[in-house]
Amino acid sequence: MSSETLTVTDNRTGKSYELPIEDGTVRAMDLRQIKVDEDEFGMLAYDPAFTNTASCRSSITYIDGAAGILEHRGYSIEQLCDRSSFLEVAYLLVFGELPTQPQLDRWTFDITHHTFVHEDLKQFFEGFRYDAHPMGMLLAGVGGLSTFYPDAKQINDPEERYMAAVRLIAKVPTLAAFSYRHNMGLPYVYPDNDLNFAENFLSMIFKKTERQYQPDPRLAKALDVLFILHADHEQNCSTNAVRGVGSSDVDPYSAVAAGVAALYGPLHGGANEAVLRMLRRIETKENIPAFLEKVKAREEKLMGFGHRVYKNYDPRARIIQQHMEEVFEATEYNPVVEIARELEKHALDDEYFTSRKLYPNVDFYSGIIYEAMEIPTDMFTVIFAIPRTAGWIAQWMEMQEDPEKKIARPRQIYTGERERDYVQLDDRDGPEKITGPPARRPKRPRRGA
Ligand code: CMC
Repeated sequence: MSSETLTVTDNRTGKSYELPIEDGTVRAMDLRQIKVDEDEFGMLAYDPAFTNTASCRSSITYIDGAAGILEHRGYSIEQLCDRSSFLEVAYLLVFGELPTQPQLDRWTFDITHHTFVHEDLKQFFEGFRYDAHPMGMLLAGVGGLSTFYPDAKQINDPEERYMAAVRLIAKVPTLAAFSYRHNMGLPYVYPDNDLNFAENFLSMIFKKTERQYQPDPRLAKALDVLFILHADHEQNCSTNAVRGVGSSDVDPYSAVAAGVAALYGPLHGGANEAVLRMLRRIETKENIPAFLEKVKAREEKLMGFGHRVYKNYDPRARIIQQHMEEVFEATEYNPVVEIARELEKHALDDEYFTSRKLYPNVDFYSGIIYEAMEIPTDMFTVIFAIPRTAGWIAQWMEMQEDPEKKIARPRQIYTGERERDYVQLDDRDGPEKITGPPARRPKRPRRGA
């Protein structure tokens, strides 16, 4: 046994165990040998919400939460935002190296030539109610993609994996744009192969009658940077969902649909939408102190603040701030930014937030930029999903190569009853008051067509 060990003494039995330490971790399975009786199951690690459990080995994204550092494959997020395009970063995440020029040309060609979706999928989108949340439509659309590419089930075939990566990165923006146009009651716009990745998305969103939509290059550049910033973030809730669902060997489209579902939540990707709603509710700078008092009384949450990993300023939030002025040069100034900046100042001056190491995260300012681009609030999380698809598929591919891959199946601590005798219906006692939904639910008001 090496000196890199942890000695654990079980005070119930007085026995000591020496557990190997590797990469600063002990294996939870090594706890299993700790028992009082030989026929006992053995000790488990209990970690609800995985706050202190590494679920895999990964060489994709490195975060130092205390120092506020984010790197992809060893390259700092600052350098990538400064010098790369989103498609280069997507390649880096998936393949581990920045592409050479021929590699980038092939990758760009492949992504650009897979942006169209089957017409049947377009019709599927037309079936949604006019006011369906675009994230719900995207979720269904990504799951639906698996029915169009049944060969993707061959997850051990490298060619199929490559095609799934290309198709997902290429088609998610198209489905995202369809969901927006559906809400707006506008005809869906087909992809334009003459535009780059970010420009094409803007075209699919905003094109009206013009022959070719020409986005403002400043906005296309800002969107590309936002895409880079959201491309991957190691084992967050949605990536964990992709890996967890993917561990069952389901096809990658279904696994990525699980990621979209997880991202939808307001504590994850839905936070940028929640930030905008919060800023609008605050309304004026004068209302900020009263709002923060409510947060401290736990009546409200300061959306866009705090992070499970960052206990420092989220480096992505800093980069977004740098690009905000460029966006405002190309768009109408968004006055909500002043409330956001003032709110940040107040919070960073307040012991409640500093003592808990609560700083702005990536979502605090991203929504303000999207709003300045005239993208509606409902679409913010959908836009987050576009670049994160690259991270999800990179993580999914890495998992397939992992010799330690197994179906994800946590244990539980059972807290319920045991070995009860069945009680016949007539003999059951219970409270007088019946709980549960009312016998007749009120009807959902019918709106629209
Ligand atoms: N507003 C007010 N208090 C907060 C907040 C917040 N946004 N976040 C954390 N706290 C408090 C929390 O109440 C707790 O206080 P105490 O120790 O007194 O009970 C303490 O800070 C630690 O918080 P936690 O809940 O243990 O932290 P967590 O790691 O479980 O949660 C989080 C992380 C991101 C879910 C949480 O900070 C949060 O809900 N933030 C708002 C939502 C948000 O902005 N989410 C986007 C995250 S970044 C984008 C992404 O990855 O999706």
